[in-house]
Amino acid sequence: MKIIVINGTEKHGVTYRLKELFLERFRENAEITEFYLPKDCPSFCSGCTNCILKGEHTCKDSGYIQIIAASLLESDLIVMTSPAYVMHATSSMKALLDHFAYLWMPHRPAPEMFTKRAVIITQCLGAGAKSAAKDIKHSLSWWGISDITVFTGKLMEDIIWEKLAEKKRSQLTDKMHRLSKKLSGVCYGKPSNVNVITKIKFLFCRMMQKSLHKNDPEYTDGKYWAKQGWLGKTRPWRA
Ligand SMILES: Cc1cc2nc3c(=O)[nH]c(=O)nc-3n(C[C@H](O)[C@H](O)[C@H](O)COP(=O)(O)O)c2cc1C
Repeated sequence: MKIIVINGTEKHGVTYRLKELFLERFRENAEITEFYLPKDCPSFCSGCTNCILKGEHTCKDSGYIQIIAASLLESDLIVMTSPAYVMHATSSMKALLDHFAYLWMPHRPAPEMFTKRAVIITQCLGAGAKSAAKDIKHSLSWWGISDITVFTGKLMEDIIWEKLAEKKRSQLTDKMHRLSKKLSGVCYGKPSNVNVITKIKFLFCRMMQKSLHKNDPEYTDGKYWAKQGWLGKTRPWRA
């Protein structure tokens, strides 16, 4: 099994500890590739829209982005982590997600994404972990992923792992171990099911792409949908 981890911070703090606890169970049998932000994607999207209009390889940052994209596509499980910064995911995480706008369903979703599983791990001092997770989940669901498990933690005392009360640390440890146990059970099995919401979103985008392709057969997204066979009867979740 292949796991990709995208860390929304380079700091080896609480988020890092939670992610390490989650990965413990997988270390022996899974191939784990980790990316740390902003190191592995230090640039912001400039809004040139080249990725959408001309293709993802024309992005000024494609050197960074396509390394992460290749790893995402070959992974069985995607793990995304972020502390809450001012009630949201870190800006580094948002900067990466912006670069993947071309992967959204209204553009050129990757067929591989539809049957993947993902885990989002966020935490905060008092409030914001849920909205940080939502920032990430929004992209993953529009990439076509149905099976997304979310863990959100509230520290409520300190933001340094070593300074947390023993009881709090062991509660968090138990929660991460339970989460990895649950996920390891399903991840070594068959690919994830595609839920109704994802299918409806896909069919709505298909309608849009059908009309775009008819009006301009050279439009990049429409051409991609036609090439995948999605404007006909082929669906990304059917082998
Ligand atoms: C810039 C910044 C903004 C933060 N904003 C929030 C916030 O809005 N709500 C909150 O509960 N915690 C906030 N925190 C605390 C973090 O969510 C987190 O709990 C803390 O950074 C520990 O995690 P880490 O060791 O992985 O960085 C903030 C921390 C930083 C550095």
